[in-house]
Amino acid sequence: MKGIILAGGSATRLYPLSKAISKQIMPVYDKPMIYYPLSTLMLAGIREILIISTPRDLPMFSELLGTGEELGMSFSYIVQEQPNGLAQAFVLGADFLAGQPGCLILGDNMFYGQGFSSMLKRAANLEKGACIFGYYVKDPRAYGVVEFDEHGKVVSLEEKPEAPKSNYAVPGLYFYDATVTAKAASLVPSARGEYEITDLNKLYLTEDTLKVELFGRGFAWLDTGNCDSLLEASNFVATIQNRQGFYVSCIEEIAWRNQWISTAQLMTLGKRLEKTEYGKYLMELAK
Ligand code: DAU
Repeated sequence: MKGIILAGGSATRLYPLSKAISKQIMPVYDKPMIYYPLSTLMLAGIREILIISTPRDLPMFSELLGTGEELGMSFSYIVQEQPNGLAQAFVLGADFLAGQPGCLILGDNMFYGQGFSSMLKRAANLEKGACIFGYYVKDPRAYGVVEFDEHGKVVSLEEKPEAPKSNYAVPGLYFYDATVTAKAASLVPSARGEYEITDLNKLYLTEDTLKVELFGRGFAWLDTGNCDSLLEASNFVATIQNRQGFYVSCIEEIAWRNQWISTAQLMTLGKRLEKTEYGKYLMELAK
């Protein structure tokens, strides 16, 4: 399974901040936002990742993340000229995927909770069909919404419905089998002119190969869409890190725990940042 992070688009609700800098590069507490979705892919065991962003922002991501080699990974980069929709990631990423299954995560989606790694690993092992997730929210109108029948079977998917048929929003994390490239290429733009991820998911639903896993009540899927939710996300990360001492979404730590880099390599990465708390944390792990 290969991974794609879609980190483009414009953050209209964060204007004028986003006029100056990519939203996904802004810090959430102590690290750039993109570290959080990147760490999600890493927890799923995905080592080959394509980062898609705007012509303006892509160079910033490649400067920040490099080739991935230092993490025992491989990063590639490709421009999305216009925000034409999330499903376009699989058209732009067709050569990268080269007929393999793919996972898409949105660059501004943050997840945190117990049991997440094993859920991700299960999803990443999928051979046929698609696996997406459902998360209960008070007001799902801003999201893709999934409806279930009384047996828990998915009956419908709708993008930003005025009158949602359930409270289950679909977060920006999607696992697909190898047919995803062909399916994405067959989509036509929606009424709002976008290649919709919900339309892609509907193709799997029609085939009866769409699995929806639910995140429980104790699970955090955080919004980073406006200044308040961004601050709340930062406070959430700070609270966990300061209470437990474990870092949330520390990509070097995950690479090391995945055995993609050695303890000596982790120490080298830590030493480079030794004047920072982040660097000290890495060096402490590598001791
Ligand atoms: O966050 C989950 C939701 O993401 C899902 O529930 C919806 O089904 C899905 O359509 C999407 O809804 P949003 O309204 O959040 O999508 P938005 O257009 O804001 O794009 C999400 C992120 O992806 C945002 O950071 C911008 C980036 N993006 C968006 C588009 C349309 C791109 O990089 N390229 C694009 O073409």
